[in-house]
Amino acid sequence: MLDPRIKAIEHRLSQVKNIIAVSSGKGGVGKSVVSSILALILSKKGYKVGLMDLDFTSPSTHLILGIKGLFPEEKEGIIPPTFEDIKFMSIVYFSKDKALSLRGQDFSDSFIEILAITKWNKLDYLILDMPPGINDATLDVIRYMRKVKFIIVTTPSILSFSTVKKLIDTLNTLKIEIIGVIENMKSDQTYSIGEELGEVKAKFLGEIPFDPELEKCFGNTKMLLTTKFSRELEKIVNEIRM
Ligand SMILES: Nc1ncnc2c1ncn2[C@@H]1O[C@H](COP(=O)(O)OP(=O)(O)OP(=O)(O)O)[C@@H](O)[C@H]1O
Ligand SMILES: [Mg+2]
Repeated sequence: MLDPRIKAIEHRLSQVKNIIAVSSGKGGVGKSVVSSILALILSKKGYKVGLMDLDFTSPSTHLILGIKGLFPEEKEGIIPPTFEDIKFMSIVYFSKDKALSLRGQDFSDSFIEILAITKWNKLDYLILDMPPGINDATLDVIRYMRKVKFIIVTTPSILSFSTVKKLIDTLNTLKIEIIGVIENMKSDQTYSIGEELGEVKAKFLGEIPFDPELEKCFGNTKMLLTTKFSRELEKIVNEIRM
């Protein structure tokens, strides 16, 4: 039998123009920082932006942006609270500080449930912070959010890039659009993935250097936007004309 929530999801996302998943395959490469600051940059440019933290086990975008004390309002579904003009949705509203470990089907059920009840209304961009791995979250996003496009984050490491190649292959096989790959935490001595990207079908979007100032700006959006990290990410955003 067809799950009625699937129709509900289509309806909930019908006024969302672009859905962008920030993903990697690999953990700890900067997906959450990229997705949080990407949402901030797009919002400051005047776009209507939503940010959804899909890392149910260890959500972190609220910590990066300094979002606390918010709770969604319920009105024929739930309305994501707004933080600095960004509509923000995270499992953290419900799980608080407790760890939430979900098995495959339970993850999918929670994911579908949240998508089916969240009222985004009109958005230019819905940014998804993906958990690490090529797993249920990746497959569910592709399945239930059909217009999704991917931005892939990697560090300049053979280990990270080999996982990223697998993600790119998977997305290409499933015919999902890849906006391109960002190389994060670059330093002078590191391995460069730029050349290797030619082998796989994905565009190189640019690099973000290792920024020692980044961590101390967490929780303060004004400071975050002045970091080298944000300036480099904004250049990438301007270049791909988002
Ligand atoms: N360009 C950078 N310069 C300095 N530190 C960075 C940079 N990018 C990310 N970091 C740091 O690296 C760590 C991992 O970043 P983040 O949590 O965004 O990665 P992630 O890919 O979302 O991790 P996970 O897979 O666990 O979700 C954080 O402590 C973050 O502050
Ligand atoms: Mg993360």
